[in-house]
Amino acid sequence: MGIRLPTFNPVEDSLLLTLYCKALDSRLPKPILSDAMADEIVRKLDYDFEQFKVNNNFLRNVALRSKKMDQVAAAFIRHHPDAVGLDLGAGLDTRMFRLVPPATVAWYDVDFPAAIDVRKRVVPDRPNAHVIGADVTDPDWLNTVPNNRPAVILADGLMGFLSKDDFVSLLNRLIDHFPSGEMAFNSYTPFAVWASTVVRGTKSVSGLLKFPGVDDPRELETWNPKLKLVREILIAREPEISDYPTGARLYNRFMATSVSLSRKGTIVLHYRF
Ligand SMILES: C[S@@+](CC[C@H](N)C(=O)[O-])C[C@H]1O[C@@H](n2cnc3c(N)ncnc32)[C@H](O)[C@@H]1O
Repeated sequence: MGIRLPTFNPVEDSLLLTLYCKALDSRLPKPILSDAMADEIVRKLDYDFEQFKVNNNFLRNVALRSKKMDQVAAAFIRHHPDAVGLDLGAGLDTRMFRLVPPATVAWYDVDFPAAIDVRKRVVPDRPNAHVIGADVTDPDWLNTVPNNRPAVILADGLMGFLSKDDFVSLLNRLIDHFPSGEMAFNSYTPFAVWASTVVRGTKSVSGLLKFPGVDDPRELETWNPKLKLVREILIAREPEISDYPTGARLYNRFMATSVSLSRKGTIVLHYRF
């Protein structure tokens, strides 16, 4: 008998979809993210994951966007072993176990209280790993996070659930809180927000999306003068695409022929401040 989940609200439920994508990736002969712990957690839970019917391209894109965020975090931690790491909307993702940062890094996984309660039951403890059960749009939770150290901030699958105003306020609070840092999150163009209503595997979350999408990543620099784009990571153009199965590979190769086509797919934005 697996661990029974509480009744999540539909936004919290989305963490099961991304967890399952990472578990499925880890079962592939050539995984992208290789997160065996995601699969262990899936197997522990009493939940019908097969109902998601995720498609090949989607599950790989979820794994690949996480991998790109891991790479940003790993590079930052290499240069800042005293960093604070923040994973916003962490769900049941075990990024800290993939990164294995030194004990000098203080890591915070933030999500709604119900998600954090389950997280505490299924994700093992690690030294200097903290959890915060809060709505990220609530300004108070950040008071418990040290504000005198450089920060690397990831938000994997979160942005779509925030309104533009909430997202801009969150960015501003984070930038004010830390002396310096970097952030990486997957972003959506207005087209991608629309496409989520028709792609199998994402339909389950499409009605919940509040973010209208941004076409140009430089637009975010106008939201806060300290925010500078480091790199727009267009997943269709990343080298890992060569390991996708033929149909998904050809689709991504076609999308990769122009920036505007690539932006219709999965994007990870990397900024510093
Ligand atoms: C698509 S899931 C991604 C989970 C995880 N990052 C991953 O990659 O597997 C989105 C997560 O964001 C969380 N979330 C959405 N809105 C939030 C908010 N306002 N405050 C805290 N967490 C939020 C949800 O509860 C969910 O865990």
